[in-house]
Amino acid sequence: MNLENLLLEIVEGVATVTVNRPGALNALNLATLAELEDLVGEIGRNPEIRVAIITGSGTKAFVAGADIATMRDMSPMEAREMALRAHRIFAGIERSAKPFIAAVNGYALGGGCELAMACDIRMAAETAKFGQPEVNLGILPGFGGTQRLPRLIGKGRALELILTGEMIDAREALRIGLVNRIVAPGELLDETRLLAGKIAAKGLPALQLCKQAVINGLEMDIARGCAYEAELFANSFATADQKEGMAAFLEKRPAAFRDC
Ligand code: CAA
Repeated sequence: MNLENLLLEIVEGVATVTVNRPGALNALNLATLAELEDLVGEIGRNPEIRVAIITGSGTKAFVAGADIATMRDMSPMEAREMALRAHRIFAGIERSAKPFIAAVNGYALGGGCELAMACDIRMAAETAKFGQPEVNLGILPGFGGTQRLPRLIGKGRALELILTGEMIDAREALRIGLVNRIVAPGELLDETRLLAGKIAAKGLPALQLCKQAVINGLEMDIARGCAYEAELFANSFATADQKEGMAAFLEKRPAAFRDC
């Protein structure tokens, strides 16, 4: 895969994807979105990868948004195409069999905050900043922000962020549930990799079923969600990993999952 705007490193089942346009604070232009689309597909398919981390290059920004220079002269049709592409990519992250963790190392604004929200778990450096500043540009969040932000932090808080366009710091993001955890900037990648490693040690079928149950269940009412969960629970008993996991527990030894 030819990557010019993203870096990819795979170590012990954990892929680290770094958005690498530091001169533009890692803003997402069309080329970067195209690469991200290919890479999310590849992460889903590659058996070497169990968990993916997304972060930004440098210490200043995770992703400072969609690229404003790219968008300035777009027609409504081109803007729709770009938004639909981002929606495909972000839905691909949510629907991927592999867990995705955002390691937010600086500004996560607009499309950057939206990218972080599409990930399953968000870790943030104490210096990270979050916001949906689109209203300052005369537009609205277009990569899922109006939909994922209220689902994550509630309607009132989401509308306050979206309507004021103001940024919040990592502590406030933690307080309102926008991030899972904050750590010292120098420890962000190590801590995120530690978390990724814990998840990567589980069996892939169980990871996939857990993620599927939560992501798809959130779109259902509680009764349908529980019925769906029961089906997935049944499916987990068709895996060799279930036999191994339970045998290992009863034999008081670590499980050796075989991803099947
Ligand atoms: N698109 C394109 N370029 C960007 C960018 C973006 N989103 N954000 C920053 N840059 C560029 C700047 O233009 C600047 O480039 P030059 O050095 O060539 O002038 C470089 O990155 C450094 O940025 P600043 O000089 O502005 O750095 P700063 O420290 O003074 O400010 C900042 C940092 C507060 C993050 C500021 O850059 C900023 O406000 N950026 C824009 C944030 C934004 O509005 N994001 C939302 C975009 S719209 C969107 O994402 C829509 C959607 O929902 C998909």
